[in-house]
Amino acid sequence: MQRLLDTINKKFSLQTDIDPAKPKNKKNENEEKNKVPGRDSQYRKLKTFIDKTAKSGKGDSLYICGPPGTGKSLTLTTLSKNLSTKKYKPIYINCMQFNQPIKIYIEIYRKLENLVSTKKGVNESLDLIESKYFYDFDNKEEEGMEKHSDKNENEKKTMWVKYREYEIDILIEKFSNILYRIFEWPTKDSSKLILFGIANDLGLVQKSLPRFAKIGMEIEVLHFKPYTEEEILKIFHHRIDLVFKEYKLKEEDQKEQLFEPETLEMISKQLSVNGCDIRKAFDVIRRLVTLKFEKYIENADSNDSLDEDPDEVIEFKSPGEYFFSMDLVQDVLAEFFECKIVSNMKSLPLQAQIILFSSFLPVLNYETLYKSYKSQCSIINFPLMEKADFGLSIDSIISNGLMKIESGKKIALLFSKEQLISAFKSSIIFDPLLEELNNL
Ligand SMILES: Nc1ncnc2c1ncn2[C@@H]1O[C@H](COP(=O)(O)OP(=O)(O)OP(=O)(O)O)[C@@H](O)[C@H]1O
Ligand SMILES: [Mg+2]
Repeated sequence: MQRLLDTINKKFSLQTDIDPAKPKNKKNENEEKNKVPGRDSQYRKLKTFIDKTAKSGKGDSLYICGPPGTGKSLTLTTLSKNLSTKKYKPIYINCMQFNQPIKIYIEIYRKLENLVSTKKGVNESLDLIESKYFYDFDNKEEEGMEKHSDKNENEKKTMWVKYREYEIDILIEKFSNILYRIFEWPTKDSSKLILFGIANDLGLVQKSLPRFAKIGMEIEVLHFKPYTEEEILKIFHHRIDLVFKEYKLKEEDQKEQLFEPETLEMISKQLSVNGCDIRKAFDVIRRLVTLKFEKYIENADSNDSLDEDPDEVIEFKSPGEYFFSMDLVQDVLAEFFECKIVSNMKSLPLQAQIILFSSFLPVLNYETLYKSYKSQCSIINFPLMEKADFGLSIDSIISNGLMKIESGKKIALLFSKEQLISAFKSSIIFDPLLEELNNL
């Protein structure tokens, strides 16, 4: 039990690799397997961009933009690991690490040249970078210099520059000239640089684009939106597969006994509605592990040894018993989201609150919900809304993250019976409805 919990904790920790257990640099042959779950389309677009640029023999640049925890770094890291090391040399620069932004040139020079350290100053570094890698043929000839011949002519430099969203104005001011200069490098005749600028906020990108447009440079932008429910589920299953690979659990039915059905869907739904950083999804699972462990310690016989046989394979006691039960998952979700859900429920108008009480139906859509709402109103002698107002109330419930419209006009609930009860347990108006709910 403890070893399984440890493995889950480890595999749901924040890692920069898609599968850290896989030997590094064994790329290409495994490329299909090493795609980033939930980020297929962005991965493909980046790959196509790199391939297209490689074919052209020139450099190019692209902006990547998306809120924190949307897989920007992971997708680029995975992609760079799948690129041939003979042809590409990925370089990563984080603008925020420099107190003096101008020092970024020293770091770029150091990384381009594979140096452990360098004593070169800013100007010297910049001169060397631009005279060796990124120059226009005309200028070189004018200066009477020979065209530099790199021993590895085909090598492309792939560079990512990352900047953060906060203090945009200060940042733009501090970095703008540097960023423009860097973004000009891929346009130079000699350049084979593929440059990715990464930012959290589209504002930063939009602020700098007009200046590029003015000088005739069009920079493509690739968006990383917060993960959808389906994408979060894919990420969960990918990590669970890693757990099973390490834990050597082969039986499909054992996999199915890890999470009670619908629990992962519930967690994913909750996370996607809140549009959150994927790191929070891992926090939820690690919290589940902690609670499970606490329960295990609580229930363990004091004579039981907590040390385990490393080859032991976990045995689930009986069919229908789950390692992570719905109850446990609901407890954790309550810890993470309850405050927001409960306060959103409480802030809704009364009519919308009655709709919440009407929504525990086997088939939930506008029609069935309206019918049920009518009967709930009659129980508490409350006047009925017109259908049009009913529609507006549903919209506000949805915008409060409590319901979601799914395909086929089905409605999905994003709150549980227990959460509804806890929000209104002291309300006299809803007393009869609460009683009904308790008997469901
Ligand atoms: N699709 C995914 N599958 C598995 N793990 C993921 C996925 N996306 C992100 N992660 C994990 O979540 C964490 C955050 O992801 P990542 O660093 O790629 O986000 P980011 O968009 O670069 O965020 P930031 O803007 O804060 O830099 C990392 O540990 C990463 O491994
Ligand atoms: Mg990142």
